[in-house]
Amino acid sequence: MELRKLGATGLNVSSLCLGAGMFGNREIGCDEQTSSAILDAYMDAGGNFVDSADFYGDGTVETVVGAITQGRRDRLLLTSKVGLWHGPGANARGLSRKHILDAIDESLRRLRTDYLDLYQVHSVDPWTPLDETLRALDDCVRSGRVRYLGCSNFEAWRLMKSLGMAGQGGLSRFVSIQLQYSLVSRTIEREHVPLCLEEGVGLLPYGVLAAGLLSGKMRRGHAPPAGTRLDKDASYRDRVDERALGIVDVLLEAARALGCTASQAALAWIAKRPAVASVILGVRSVEQIEDNLGAARVVIDPENDRRLDEASAQAADHPYDMIKRLEAFVAPQNLVTRR
Ligand SMILES: NC(=O)c1ccc[n+]([C@@H]2O[C@H](COP(=O)([O-])OP(=O)(O)OC[C@H]3O[C@@H](n4cnc5c(N)ncnc54)[C@H](OP(=O)(O)O)[C@@H]3O)[C@@H](O)[C@H]2O)c1
Repeated sequence: MELRKLGATGLNVSSLCLGAGMFGNREIGCDEQTSSAILDAYMDAGGNFVDSADFYGDGTVETVVGAITQGRRDRLLLTSKVGLWHGPGANARGLSRKHILDAIDESLRRLRTDYLDLYQVHSVDPWTPLDETLRALDDCVRSGRVRYLGCSNFEAWRLMKSLGMAGQGGLSRFVSIQLQYSLVSRTIEREHVPLCLEEGVGLLPYGVLAAGLLSGKMRRGHAPPAGTRLDKDASYRDRVDERALGIVDVLLEAARALGCTASQAALAWIAKRPAVASVILGVRSVEQIEDNLGAARVVIDPENDRRLDEASAQAADHPYDMIKRLEAFVAPQNLVTRR
C-alpha cells in the first residue's frame, strides 16, 4: 500500500486508515475476534494507521484496539479523539484543560500504550476558549503522551484561527483534520480542501462509503439489505435522495469498466483527491476489509474520473461562483500557476 506524508509532517501514513469505530459494537459492528482478524488483513496489506476515539462505544473501541494491538504496537500509528464523550461529572466533557488532561490518560490506559501518534479533538467546543484547548493539547505533546495533534469536524475558519494561534504562541499545531468526504458529500471542497493545501494540513476523510451506500447495496426502488447500517439507521437511509442514487448508477458503471467493486472505485476516487493523506475505512467483516483494501490497486482512468466528477459535482454558489468567474480577470494570460 502507498505511504504518504501526513500533511506537512515527516510522518508516513498508509493511504488507507483502519477506522475502528465498529469494533466491539454488537449493533452495527463486530466482536473482538473479528476485529483482530480485520487488523491482521489490514497490516498484511501494508496498513499502519488505526483510528479510534474515546466516544466510540463509551471507551469500548479503545479497549478492543488496546487488546488487539498488543505485540504489534510498534508497527502501528494509533490515534484517538477527545471532546464528545460525556463522562460523569460537570467537567468530564468538552475541550477544557481539565477534561483533556484527564481524558488523554484514560485513553492511554484503555489503549494499553504510553503514547498516541495522533490525538484529535473530535469536534468544536464553542464554550471553551480556543487558547485553553490548544495549550492543554500542547502539554500533551510536551509531556510525551502525544506525538502529533489533529482536529475533526472544525469549520475552516476555526481551523485557520487555531493554526494562527498555535504559530503565534509557539504551540504544537493541528497537522490533520477529519471530515466527511465522499462522492455524495463534497461540500468541504469549497473551504477546507484549499485551506489544507495552503497550510499543509493532512485531510483524513471519513464517511467515504456513505454508510455503505457507495458499495452499491441500495438501489433505486429497493430497500437496503436487512441487517446493514442503511437498514438499521433511518438517519443514514433518509439522506439517500435521487442525486445520491444517480451517483451510485455512475459509480457502478465505472466499477464495471474498471473491473473492480463499487466500494473500491469510490475509495480509489477519494484517495486521489487533493489534500487527502489517508482514507478512513469502516468495516465489520474480513470480507469487507479485503474488498476495500483492493482499492489500493485501482487506478481510475481520466474518462471514468471525469464522469464520476460530473455526476457528483456540487453547484458553486456565492461567492465561489463569482470568484471562479473573476479569476479570469486577474491572471495575466501567460501566468503559470500551481493550481
Ligand atoms: N471524526 C468523526 O467525526 C468520524 C465520524 C464517523 C466516522 N469516523 C471514522 O471513520 C470510520 C468509518 O466509519 P464511517 O461511518 O465513516 O464509514 P462509511 O465509509 O460511511 O461506511 C462504512 C459502512 O459501509 C459498509 N461497508 C464497508 N465496506 C463495505 C464493502 N466492501 N461492501 C459492502 N459494504 C461495506 C459497512 O456497513 P454495513 O455492512 O452495515 O452495510 C460499514 O459499516 C470510523 O470507524 C471512524 O474511525 C470519524
